[in-house]
Amino acid sequence: LRGKYLELIAGASEEGALEDLRVQAVGKKGEISLKMRELGKMSPEERQVAGPALNALKDEINAALAAKKAALADAALNERLKTEWLDVTLPTRPMRQGTIHPISQVTEEITAIFAEMGFTVAEGPQIDTDWYNFDALNIPGHHPARAEMDTFYMHRAEGDERAPHVLRTHTSPVQIRHMEKNGAPCRVIAPGRVYRADYDQTHTPMFHQVEGLAIDRDISMANLKWVLEEFFSAFFEIDGIKTRFRASHFPFTEPSAEVDIQCSWEDGQLKIGEGDGWLEVLGSGMVHPKVLQAAGVNPDEWQGFAFGMGIDRISMLKYGIPDLRAFFDSDLRWLRHYGFAS
Ligand code: PHE
Repeated sequence: LRGKYLELIAGASEEGALEDLRVQAVGKKGEISLKMRELGKMSPEERQVAGPALNALKDEINAALAAKKAALADAALNERLKTEWLDVTLPTRPMRQGTIHPISQVTEEITAIFAEMGFTVAEGPQIDTDWYNFDALNIPGHHPARAEMDTFYMHRAEGDERAPHVLRTHTSPVQIRHMEKNGAPCRVIAPGRVYRADYDQTHTPMFHQVEGLAIDRDISMANLKWVLEEFFSAFFEIDGIKTRFRASHFPFTEPSAEVDIQCSWEDGQLKIGEGDGWLEVLGSGMVHPKVLQAAGVNPDEWQGFAFGMGIDRISMLKYGIPDLRAFFDSDLRWLRHYGFAS
C-alpha cells in the first residue's frame, strides 16, 4: 500500500490528481481508512502492531501529498515567471499628449482678464434667428449690414414656417439674449464662434469674437476706454498700452467707435504697445436705446457700452502669426512650430 501510493503521488502532474489520490487513500472511504476500521476485529496483540503502523502510514501519505502539492505550485510559478516576463528597462514608446488649441487658450486668457474686472461669461447659440442676429440689434431687413456680413442662412424647405435662422455673424445677439433674461445692470463678456462667407489670409468662414457688455445707470465711453486699455495691457503683457477711438457707425451703438491699439513697424517687425502706429482691433460704442428696448431694458433708466473684438485677430498679433487660416488647418507641424502642441 505504502509503495503504491508514494509512487502514484510522485507521478501526479497536477493538483486535481493529487486530490483524487488523497480521497482514494486517506479519505473517509479510502483504502487506508477502511483498513483502520478493521482494527476493531483484530486481537489486541495484532492491533498493537497494526494500529501504529497504519497511523504512521497515514501521516506519511499526508506528508507526501502536501510536499507534492507545494512542489507542483512551485513548478507552476516558475513556468509563469519564465513565460510572462516583462522587460521594465525597455524605453517607452513616445507618447504625444493632446494640447489645448491656441484659440481656446487665448479665450481662457481673455476670460480670466475680464473676470478680474468683474465680467462674467454669457453664452448664446451659434445658430440663431435673424431676429436676434439682426432685427433686435437695430438692423432691419433692408439694411446693407445684412449683405455686408456675408451671412450664412439656414435652408428652409418650402412651407416651413419657422423663423428664419442664420449662423450668427457676430456675438452681439448674446447682448440681447443676456439682457432679456437677466435685465440690468450687467457686466458680461460672450466669447464664441461666429460665421461669415469670407476666406483669405485674414478671414476664415468660421472665426471667433468676444462680445463685451456693461449696463448700469451711468456707464460711459470713458469706462469703456479704461476697461479696454486695462485689458490690452494685461493681454499683451505691456504696461500702459494706449488705445485710439475713431468715430464709426454700427446700427446697434450710438455713438460708435472703432478702437485701435498703439503699435510700431520696425524692419518689418510689428511691435504692440509702442510707437506711433495704430492697429484696428475692435468695434464698440454706447448700446443703442432701441437695442435696450428690444431686450426689455428701459433706456430711460439704463445705459452702457458694448464692444466686439476678433479673438483670432488679437491671437495673430500676440503670437506673430501671419495667416489666420493656419489656426484651423489642424497641421501638427504648424502647431508645434508655434509651441501650441508637443
Ligand atoms: N458686432 C460688431 C461686429 O461684428 C462689433 C461690435 C460689437 C460693434 C459691439 C459695436 C458693439 O463687427
